[in-house]
Amino acid sequence: MDSVTPPSAAAVHPVIVPLSYLLGTWRGQGEGGYPTINSFSYGEELHFSSNPGKPVIAYNQKTWKLNSGEPMHAESGYWRPKPDGTIEVVIAQSTGIVEVQVKEISRDFELVNGDLSYVVQMATNLTGIQPHLKALLKKL
Ligand code: HEM
Repeated sequence: MDSVTPPSAAAVHPVIVPLSYLLGTWRGQGEGGYPTINSFSYGEELHFSSNPGKPVIAYNQKTWKLNSGEPMHAESGYWRPKPDGTIEVVIAQSTGIVEVQVKEISRDFELVNGDLSYVVQMATNLTGIQPHLKALLKKL
């Protein structure tokens, strides 16, 4: 086999099969806020992909201001299903310095009538755990 050509038609890894509904592109919008900042609205696109045979899903996200299209937060990483049924999520954010200041982050994802909804909560040095974002995304 030509070693520079990536494999094309191999199957997704078995641990990815239960999550394969995520694979592809989701787009929607959300709202954010926090006790210390002004509320805001944003557009968002998520992209999930898997390499054949690899037990991991690659994740890319970008957001933008709804009125102007100006880019906002972006992040990317990997979702790694674990044998105990949990998923380890490793994410690098474009706002790396901000993330260092965050004490605690929780992200809850839910599939609601085929749409992907999530809530992000966080605690900082100044504020206990509070909602920061909520959004609803449709599969493209
Ligand atoms: C898990 C992901 C995220 C984390 C951990 C995070 C964290 C933070 C933190 C720590 C702050 C500063 C809060 C303060 O000043 O007390 C902040 C502010 C902010 N975040 Fe996020 N953020 C995340 C995702 C996003 C996303 C996806 C967007 C936009 C779509 C966003 C937009 C904003 C905005 C607009 C501010 C206010 C900035 C300002 O007024 O200076 N954040 N975020």
